[in-house]
Amino acid sequence: MSNYHVKNLEEYFQVYRKSVRDPETFWEEIAEENFVWRKRWDKVLEYDLSKPEISWFQGAKLNITENCIDRHIYSRGDKTAIIFEPNDPNEEAEHITYKQLHERVCRFANVLKDQGVEKGDRVCIYLPMIPELAVAVLACARIGAIHSVVFAGFSSKALATRINDCECKMVLTSDGSYRGTKTIDLKGIVDEALESCEGVESVLVAKRINSDIQMKEGRDKWLQPLLDEAYHDCVPEIMDAEDPLFILYTSGSTGKPKGMVHSTAGYMVYTAYTFKNVFQYREDDVYWCTADIGWITGHSYIVYGPLANGATTVMYEGVPTYPDWGRFWQIVEKHNINQFYTAPTAIRALAKENLDFVEQYDLSSLKVLGTVGEPINEEAWHWYNDNIGNKNCPIVDTWWQTETGGIMISPIPYSTPTIPTYATLPLPGIQPALMDENGNELKGNLVSGRLCVKFPWPSMARTIWGNHQRYKDTYFSAFEGKYFTGDGALRDSTGYYRITGRVDDVIIVSGHNLGTAPIEDAINEHPAVAESAIVGFPHEVKGNALYGYVILKETGESRNHDNLRKEINQIITEHVGPIAKLDKIQFTQGLPKTRSGKIMRRILRKIASKDTSNLGDTSTLLNPEVVQDIMDNAL
Ligand code: PRX
Repeated sequence: MSNYHVKNLEEYFQVYRKSVRDPETFWEEIAEENFVWRKRWDKVLEYDLSKPEISWFQGAKLNITENCIDRHIYSRGDKTAIIFEPNDPNEEAEHITYKQLHERVCRFANVLKDQGVEKGDRVCIYLPMIPELAVAVLACARIGAIHSVVFAGFSSKALATRINDCECKMVLTSDGSYRGTKTIDLKGIVDEALESCEGVESVLVAKRINSDIQMKEGRDKWLQPLLDEAYHDCVPEIMDAEDPLFILYTSGSTGKPKGMVHSTAGYMVYTAYTFKNVFQYREDDVYWCTADIGWITGHSYIVYGPLANGATTVMYEGVPTYPDWGRFWQIVEKHNINQFYTAPTAIRALAKENLDFVEQYDLSSLKVLGTVGEPINEEAWHWYNDNIGNKNCPIVDTWWQTETGGIMISPIPYSTPTIPTYATLPLPGIQPALMDENGNELKGNLVSGRLCVKFPWPSMARTIWGNHQRYKDTYFSAFEGKYFTGDGALRDSTGYYRITGRVDDVIIVSGHNLGTAPIEDAINEHPAVAESAIVGFPHEVKGNALYGYVILKETGESRNHDNLRKEINQIITEHVGPIAKLDKIQFTQGLPKTRSGKIMRRILRKIASKDTSNLGDTSTLLNPEVVQDIMDNAL
């Protein structure tokens, strides 16, 4: 039996027990047998969760791109590493072999070096889902530069905040992007962002939509001519196991986004291991994850995890709705996809459309279906299972986070029996704990509480860029000696986990984490707004939608409310991005507050969800009278 590839439930339990009994030996065997190291580690694990300091494979030396590309050239050089499926179905798909990927990454890496990027420098990547994005990520890793990919749907302000926070010296972008029938002026967004980013010395621009863009003299350069001139081979920079590989920003419950820092060796080992097991990938399979590489799902399960296994991974540029609602299934048929990984919000949107969009395609290549990003409701699960999987493909409901780097709780397909809405069992090496509000661990089954992890795993984020104290406060202070996820969960009578949702001020809209604070900060920028509070309410497709309660200044009261609503959403779009727009905006005279001045979001949530039967005791509020008024005027 190999630790690396779990093939049935009995093996899972054996491997799991071993991983808990002796985590160091467990991970050491996996690391030893499945990766290329330039120097072996001195110690598998060193940690102190009170600081918190965590180090895996300390002393080891490696380059992750050597593991993701070079070593496959001998055994699978002509195998396709990446299939690029363009937005327009009439444009030809591109198949990039491992050999070609090697050359493209090396050329790009040499360009970065020629432009003055050095090991440890931060490079911001703001690119659409085109091959250059994956190549750019790997090129940074090749030379030891730390990539910070910003999802190319974020606004210029959000981009600027992220560029400045980690002091990027270079931005990689494109002249624009395709999204269905629309084009987006990415370079224009970068130009606007860079007005407030003094540290950026250069911008390299990939050509995608052939638009007429402004190039700033001395700062901006077209990428392709530089690639054409660059040397086709690049010796990988040898990195320490704990050197940062990338920074990826995630929303928090307070204002500033958190730059989660992931390190090299542990991240590589864990994403590769989980990819292999959760998707049961076999050599000739074609795997497709529909996420954007701008999110952690894309980092771990489009780029690093699949490539570390020598897999064929699909990158799709477009949207599920173009040219029609059948596009995903057309792609599944076209490329004979074996593993398909998407988000519940996409499934819900697709499930609302006519089944003809599904039925005209041959989906018989599918073996495993996955979901990630938010709880999947039972109806969506059944639709996915019946119509896409033909009741034949296990669904892996994978729970994890930007911070965890890789999948933490998930069925292992063809081994773990699945139940709709349950992420089921922790993967080997993961030790979850459910905690009550007093900080006690809830032992045994049939309990629900706050979800923590009580032992380190290799791909956990090591810090928040530039703010270790915030890392400690956010994740390691609520429950001593444990990593707190911010999620609630229950454990059923058989030990299966079901994730019940966030227990903090993060709201997941269409699978995107949105902190309430940055949105409220944006709204409060409007000159007519005095104060605001955002809550989530259930939405058929998005999972949650946003409901804003806004108190206007006197000057705002006399204004047309519909115009104000538009202006508020415009400000949110500029500051955070269009995903954070509010579905409903209620203007109100007051917000319910505790005597210490904290907004009682629990009450606002219930009103927004039209669930006012049990609002709890409101008499202790500072201003109980506003509750009735808000209820009377609820939208
Ligand atoms: O609340 C959980 C939810 O998404 C959060 C993490 O979001 P993010 O860092 O953006 O990463 C998303 C992709 C890994 C979690 O704290 N979440 C993620 N997967 C699931 C989930 N909730 C329920 N079930 C899931 N399978």
